[in-house]
Amino acid sequence: MFAKRMAQINSSGIRKVFDLAQDLQNPVNFSIGQPDFDVPQEIKARAISAIEQGFNKYTLTQGIPELRERVRAHIKETRNFQPEAVLITSGVSGGLLLASMALIDPGDEVLLLDPYFVMYKHLTGLVGGIPKFVNTYGDFRLRPEALEEVLSEKTKMVLFNSPNNPTGITAREEELKTLASFAKRHNLFIIADEIYDHFVYDGPYRSISAYTDNLLLLGGFSKTYAMTGWRLGYAAGPADLIGEMTKLQQFSFVCAPAMVQQAALVAFDLDVSRFQEEYRKKRNLIYEGLKGVYDVVRPDGAFYIFPEVPWGKDEEFVAEAIRKNLLIIPGSVFSERNTHFRISYATSNENIEKGIEILRSLAGG
Ligand SMILES: Cc1ncc(COP(=O)(O)O)c(C=O)c1O
Repeated sequence: MFAKRMAQINSSGIRKVFDLAQDLQNPVNFSIGQPDFDVPQEIKARAISAIEQGFNKYTLTQGIPELRERVRAHIKETRNFQPEAVLITSGVSGGLLLASMALIDPGDEVLLLDPYFVMYKHLTGLVGGIPKFVNTYGDFRLRPEALEEVLSEKTKMVLFNSPNNPTGITAREEELKTLASFAKRHNLFIIADEIYDHFVYDGPYRSISAYTDNLLLLGGFSKTYAMTGWRLGYAAGPADLIGEMTKLQQFSFVCAPAMVQQAALVAFDLDVSRFQEEYRKKRNLIYEGLKGVYDVVRPDGAFYIFPEVPWGKDEEFVAEAIRKNLLIIPGSVFSERNTHFRISYATSNENIEKGIEILRSLAGG
C-alpha cells in the first residue's frame, strides 16, 4: 500500500527508547533536543500582539519582506556573507526538505559527516539520494583523507552541520577551509546547517560561508530562542536555488506561520548571551562529570555530548540506563556505528548532576 520511499525511513532506534521509557516515573531526561529556557518575553509579546492585529493569514510564499531583510542583514553582519536570496522556511527542517527535493536526483551521492543529524540520512534517502558517510570518529574532526575516501563521480553535495548534533563539536578554521576547498575542487554544493550558531563556548562562531559562497546556509530560531514549536527558519543562498525551493514551498508548506514571522522581527535585537553563558557552564559540568570515567571528547558547541559506551552495544547500554531511570539516545540513531550514546544537557543543573551519578555507576566508576 505504501510508496517504496517510505522504506527509506527507519525510526526504530528512537522508538525503542521511547517504548522502554514509557513506564518511567519522572526520569532524568537527557534525550531532548531543545533548550530548557522559555521563549523570551519580548518575542512572546510580539506574537500575541501580531495575532491580535490580524497577522493570521497566508504571507508571501518566500516570507514577509521585513524579515527577509533582517535575516539578510544578520547574515552580513555576523558572517560577512551576502546571499543572493533568502527564503523564510518552516524551521530548518522545512529548509532541509525543500533543498533536498530541489537538489538531489535519484542516484546522487550526498556526503554526511558521521555522526550526523538524524534527519539528513532519511531525507537524502527519501528523495532517492545515496548517503555516503565521512568518518569523523576519534576526535569528531574532519580529515581531508576521510573526504577523499568516499568521493566518487556521483558525489553531488555535502550536508554539513557545525556545531554538530550529536557530538557538540564545532568545526575549526582549518576544517572549514578543508571542506570548502574540497568542495570547490570537486564542484560540490554545500548545505550548511548552522542552527546552533549561538551555542558556541570556546571562541567566536565560524561559518563555512567565510570560505565559499557555493552554498545554502540554513539558520533557525528554534534553538536560539527556544521556539521549537513555532516552526521558523531561513534558507539563504543562490537566487536560482531559492527560486526552486520557493516553488516547492508554494505547493507544500505554503508559508511559515504569519504571526511567528512577525515575532521573529524582534528576535535579532535581543541579547541571548546569558543563555550562552549558562550553557557553557552546563557543558563544563557534564564534561567534568564524565571525563576519566567515560571515553569522551570535550564538546565546544550545541548542547550535546557523545561519549563511548563503556560496555556492550549502544542499545544494550541505553536499555540499562533506562532501567536506572536515565533517558539517553543510542549513537546508532545518528551513525553507522553502535559504539556511542548521545546526551542532551539542555536541562537543569540538578538533573545534570543526577544523570552524572547514574552514568558513573553504570560505568562502574
Ligand atoms: C542539526 C539540526 N538541524 C535542524 C534541526 C531542526 O530544527 P528546526 O526546529 O528549525 O526544524 C535540528 C533539531 O534538532 C538539528 O539538531
